Amino acid sequence: MNSSIKIKDKEFVPYICEEQIQEAIDRIAQQISDCYGDRQGKEPLILVITLKGAMLFGAELSKRLDMPVVWDFVKCSSYGSDMCSCGTIKFQLQESNKIEGRDVLVIEDIVDSGNTWEFLYNYFNEKKAASVRIATLAIKREIYQKDIPIDFVALELQNRFVVGYGLDYDEIGRNINGIYVLSAD
Ligand code: IMP
Ligand code: MG
Repeated sequence: MNSSIKIKDKEFVPYICEEQIQEAIDRIAQQISDCYGDRQGKEPLILVITLKGAMLFGAELSKRLDMPVVWDFVKCSSYGSDMCSCGTIKFQLQESNKIEGRDVLVIEDIVDSGNTWEFLYNYFNEKKAASVRIATLAIKREIYQKDIPIDFVALELQNRFVVGYGLDYDEIGRNINGIYVLSAD
């Protein structure tokens, strides 16, 4: 990893390398495969990938799941150019699959306040999904206070602002290999 990177006015330093991320994704993919088990005679699992942050994670995870899956995409934004979750969720769903009676796995980049996850959990339950679970690349466990379970977590992070591997600062940094943390934190 580079020693540090600058995005706009902020400096970020190495936090989690690409290799650790790939290992964490291997682990979580195994847990997901064990959980959903033999899907003979069942409809494919619906992966709902949250844009834009979970795009890379969703792609890497999908490749490791040895079961039929279909993709849907949802765009949720609670962060703007700011560094804190503002609590209002902007939501656009490109839903190509019927949800009722289906197993839904939401793919998130990071769970922070959990407002996004709570919103999606309620949305798919109201649509009468058979099950609604989440797989997230990362969680800031200290911040997450909600009762809804977080089913599959690849990386546990401290409460610090991070970029890379899908995560952005004001839209920049999503394509960086590895995860970097704000240096002044
Ligand atoms: P929540 O709704 O507060 O859980 O926010 C989750 C969303 O905020 C994530 O899907 C990210 O898009 C964004 N987010 C939370 N923490 C960070 C961070 O440290 N860096 C970049 N984006 C973040
Ligand atoms: Mg997100």
